[in-house]
Amino acid sequence: MAAIAVRSGELVVFPTETVYGLWADARNDWAVQKIFEAKNRPSQNPLIIHLADKSMISDYAMIRSPKEKKLIDLLMPWPLTIVLESRETISLTARANGSTVAVRIPSHPVAHSFLAKAWIPIAAPSANTSGRPSATNKDMVRKDLSQKLSYIIDGWSCEYGIESTVVKVSDDTVFILRPWFVTKEDIERALWNTTKVLYSQARQEQSPGTRYQHYTPSIPVFRFHDTSELQWWSDVHPQDKAALIVTEETYSRIRSTTTDMKNLTYFHRGSIQNLAACAHNLYNLYFQAEQKGYNSIRVESLPMQWLGISIMNRINKSVSPTPATDWRSDDF
Ligand code: TXA
Ligand code: MG
Repeated sequence: MAAIAVRSGELVVFPTETVYGLWADARNDWAVQKIFEAKNRPSQNPLIIHLADKSMISDYAMIRSPKEKKLIDLLMPWPLTIVLESRETISLTARANGSTVAVRIPSHPVAHSFLAKAWIPIAAPSANTSGRPSATNKDMVRKDLSQKLSYIIDGWSCEYGIESTVVKVSDDTVFILRPWFVTKEDIERALWNTTKVLYSQARQEQSPGTRYQHYTPSIPVFRFHDTSELQWWSDVHPQDKAALIVTEETYSRIRSTTTDMKNLTYFHRGSIQNLAACAHNLYNLYFQAEQKGYNSIRVESLPMQWLGISIMNRINKSVSPTPATDWRSDDF
């Protein structure tokens, strides 16, 4: 049913293992245009194309280097998206008139079975209005986009909770255009540590999506590093009803060392030992804080290591005001 709808140009919402996606036939300019309208997405920001199987890639893109082939062979399906040279079979609207196309093979069973039935390339951005946090459950999609959609398919939850790692191979370097669960170390290992792998957040020309404000709820988000910042803020702004997103460990520390900050409500993101859970919960906690009528969100910074890098990438883009860059290009 959903496969028929998409083949006839309708928009459908599905979960993937990362976040919910808003799906349309990637060969059809007119269907893809509806995605840009529903999301109010800038037309210069290209979409990721989702496929059921690796064997389909060559119909829609060109694998030009052995490094691209190796990453596809070893790391897909996984939450990894690879930017390749596009074939003409992909809508120019989906590619934002560019010559490349970002390709992903989701592993989520609902998404995969849908793609296998449709057996066409499906363009899908995250199912949220542009600029807002990505939806990780159907309530978030309903609240944000329901008036603009024909179908919302509920399904298993989004295991990873933030968007896929996006990479591009150029000459002898792999650039990570958007970090996440497939890490720099995973990519280095897959290429037998023979290739330079760099974060390229500042190279905006490579990843158009990094130009735009992202992941921002309707209430302001502020980061904090140290609980003393919270005590200061609570003393100075006793009227501000804030949602405090903290790890279990920080929560215990605050309870044992500081005086009660009555205007704060604690939202538990999980243990510092489980960064995957911290990521999984992030957008949903933002959503809960908005829905429950808090004035602001105070979110604790995490160490810039391993998955913490990706979680901080999303948090840094959601804070008010948005910092110019999260980190300098090519530093780590
Ligand atoms: O996990 C995900 O990747 C989710 C699920 C639904 O698959 N999709 C997703 O799509 O996050 P979206 O549109 O929200 O983000 C796509 C990112 C944007 O930053 C975009 O600029 C970048 O991928 N991108 C898409 N095509 C590209 C291309 N040809 N070259 C460089 N970057 C590209
Ligand atoms: Mg998005």
